[in-house]
Amino acid sequence: NRPIRVALLGAGTVGSQTARLLVEQSDELASRIGRPMELVGVAVLDPSSVTDPWIERSLLTTDAAELASRADIVIELIGGIEPARTFLLTAIESGASVVTANKALLAKHGPELYEAAARQGVDIYFEAAVGGAIPIVRPLRESLVGDKVLSVMGIVNGTTNYILDEMTTKGIGFDEALRDAQAKGFAEADPTADIEGHDAAAKAAIMALLAFHTDVRIDDVPVEGIAHITAGDIAAASAEHKVIKLLAVVEQTDAGISARVYPALLDETHPLATVHGSFNAVFVKAEAADDLMFYGRGAGGAPTASAVVGDVVTEARHIAQHSLGPVIPIYANLPKAPLNAS
Ligand code: HSE
Repeated sequence: NRPIRVALLGAGTVGSQTARLLVEQSDELASRIGRPMELVGVAVLDPSSVTDPWIERSLLTTDAAELASRADIVIELIGGIEPARTFLLTAIESGASVVTANKALLAKHGPELYEAAARQGVDIYFEAAVGGAIPIVRPLRESLVGDKVLSVMGIVNGTTNYILDEMTTKGIGFDEALRDAQAKGFAEADPTADIEGHDAAAKAAIMALLAFHTDVRIDDVPVEGIAHITAGDIAAASAEHKVIKLLAVVEQTDAGISARVYPALLDETHPLATVHGSFNAVFVKAEAADDLMFYGRGAGGAPTASAVVGDVVTEARHIAQHSLGPVIPIYANLPKAPLNAS
């Protein structure tokens, strides 16, 4: 059995950690997949900038399109719309399945990519695009597919949650909290997409599409960010036992589907009110399942890579089993581990 060939496009924070997991765990992953899996190349703009010891120099290339054309699974971690969109379409058209964390691209062009993948009989996986390490795409796409989702409320941007949490616990203003977030590495040098709510809006569009099986794009999502929130607003909320959280809210209303991003007043007893620091959480209401809550690290190299590699292994398993569709298999012949050892 020849190894399943995996191509990685991008070796930034998430790409580097994805390569590390694929290389360091290759034996374990092969046993879970039932066939070896090989990282056949890593495409970057400047190979001399890659210094990770787990990425062999010989794997580095600047020709992403050529690399994508000789893989079974293409991982796109470049970000942005172009050239990521073209690379993904090229990979799909050459018969590869794709794994991406690119929320901006999916929120703008997702349905075209999903259709292209369906036409080719390949799959597109994007667990890492919403909520980093948190499993939320698969629950909405698979676990809840037999239910009727009523609403999804998410803290899906760690930067803004960190800022609002610092303002709440320390009584400081927005500018000071933003500077603190930048100094600690929680906010980008240019934090506009986070604080204006556009990053959360991309995730809202993706979640609305999955929850309601409807074409929802980022341009359909009205956005209000947090830059205008003052220490006075936070104090007034606290006096009423409430907290301010930037939420992505998608719901089924009498008037149709609604998807919005805005700073919301939450009762301090609400499960989402207890999400502190840069953590993310998503609260789902479904008709039969009732309330569900998903919590974890929404950003960062290793947490996001965890979701990416989970998708890669799922698809590799399908290729090895000649099966289709994003379904996690239950493994036969599970090894026995010591149970209830005292
Ligand atoms: N800038 C994002 C955040 C990164 O702060 O959550 C993850 O999408």
